[in-house]
Amino acid sequence: MEDSVVIRMRGVSKSFGNNKANDNVDMEVRKGEILAILGENGAGKSTLMKILFGFYTRDEGTVEIEGNVMPLVYSPRVAMEMGLAMVHQHFKLVETLPVAENIVLGAEGKVARFVYDKRKTREKLKSLYDYSGIHLNSDTLIRDLPLGDRQKVEILKALFRGCRTLILDEPTAVLTPQETENMFSLLRNLREQGMTILIITHKLSEVLQLSDRVLVMRAGRVAGLFETSHTSEAELARTMVGYELGSSKTIRQSCSSLSPTLQLENLSTEDSAGCNLKGLSLSLYPGRIVGIAGVDGNGQRELVEVLAGILPLSSGTVLLNGSLFDMGRRKLAESGLRIIPEDRHRQGLVLPLTVQDNIMAGYRNRIDMRKGPFFDIEAIHSFTDGLIEDFDIRPRSRELKAQQMSGGNQQKIVLARELSESDLSIIVASQPTRGLDVGAIEFTHSQLLKHKNEGRTILLISSDLDEIEALSDEIAVIYDGKITVQRNADDFDRTTLGLYMGGGREDVV
Ligand SMILES: Nc1ncnc2c1ncn2[C@@H]1O[C@H](COP(=O)(O)OP(=O)(O)OP(=O)(O)O)[C@@H](O)[C@H]1O
Ligand SMILES: [Mg+2]
Repeated sequence: MEDSVVIRMRGVSKSFGNNKANDNVDMEVRKGEILAILGENGAGKSTLMKILFGFYTRDEGTVEIEGNVMPLVYSPRVAMEMGLAMVHQHFKLVETLPVAENIVLGAEGKVARFVYDKRKTREKLKSLYDYSGIHLNSDTLIRDLPLGDRQKVEILKALFRGCRTLILDEPTAVLTPQETENMFSLLRNLREQGMTILIITHKLSEVLQLSDRVLVMRAGRVAGLFETSHTSEAELARTMVGYELGSSKTIRQSCSSLSPTLQLENLSTEDSAGCNLKGLSLSLYPGRIVGIAGVDGNGQRELVEVLAGILPLSSGTVLLNGSLFDMGRRKLAESGLRIIPEDRHRQGLVLPLTVQDNIMAGYRNRIDMRKGPFFDIEAIHSFTDGLIEDFDIRPRSRELKAQQMSGGNQQKIVLARELSESDLSIIVASQPTRGLDVGAIEFTHSQLLKHKNEGRTILLISSDLDEIEALSDEIAVIYDGKITVQRNADDFDRTTLGLYMGGGREDVV
């Protein structure tokens, strides 16, 4: 029905330089539906949503929101007044402010009144928590929250403004399976109440579970529009990437005869604002992938920070190739340990710098990048171009700034840098495929498996159990700062894994 359409975009195009991010896109969204938007990294999904939300100005085309023809230029504030809210792929929260302030920020009305009504605001927040089923401590500072919780703050922020159409850009990329499940029931509830939801996600199973219709984008254009009940994962994947996908699975290795590369014994920390390590022990072997499964916030971040030499140990020992390694005085990075960090914006990239500068960070002292006392610009260019090609970073430009790349392509920059070190021996991959499209996930998995097959030691930390199961030789569960169980991947089933992840144990027989 014509009047059930709340959003109508026609012939929308947008270029950045000579890169056409959106090319003559048509999209209609019906009231009270969940429309999933799917597409490869760089297909133009975020751009389209940002145009709708008034964040970018379109070059061509028309936009109607609830029957109102929108002018060429309008601000997100105007879009919000028209009932839209957007949760961005990369959060836009004020890290040094508490949860409550972030939720109300910008929606408080006149300042004096807000200060006066602080108590009322608190009450409003309380009822928002109850209504959404999302419970957070209003006073926690954003910087102390795990990523999953920051996502929730973003959603609460949108709901607080009483939006009628909610745009979510990859909201589940940082959530655990349980958190995702909770969020889906929240979204279904919101739909019941008549809210319209646009959701970008790379996870095909989620698309099928949640949405009413799916819009697939490829290279800036609409590649297909499907009723969810009439399509399949295979059809969606094919429409998205234009070819049939395979899938990477490890050939599992058992470790009996090998000696460990890295042994972590009884590691404890005291300085983390999150979950300190409380006697964590773990052994890693060459040519093997150990997957760490666990609910976010159980010490994963701290484990990575300890290995990076950022978070000091209060007790415990680290053995590298059988010898004691003094974490207080040396960095494991000197011994070929590379980290793919979970949060690419805060730890993986310098956003205002170019792709080349981001790829070259840490490589500048390589002798083959020098010509006497000078940088060998040609060598640097060809090294960078080689990696851009190998890792399929799109667009193929070393001069673009990292912040001008799509989310998935930013992650590829990090992978390219970390996985191409010549003395690479240990890889710590934390959520390595978060935000990547199915083709790029397949690529990353094959890279990790290649390094494993070449004898490197790999620690994989992921909240995606499919990923853990597909790649790991051994699985360890982290709970409350310790490894509670570690065994061959084949000896786990989902139920047992879930049990340990929730802090339980099997009955001892
Ligand atoms: N601010 C910008 N400046 C220059 N180019 C940009 C900018 N934002 C996006 N682009 C380019 O536009 C294209 C589409 O990007 P967009 O972020 O919309 O992709 P996406 O579909 O959301 O991808 P992903 O799944 O990786 O998030 C990409 O080629 C990207 O590099
Ligand atoms: Mg995006």
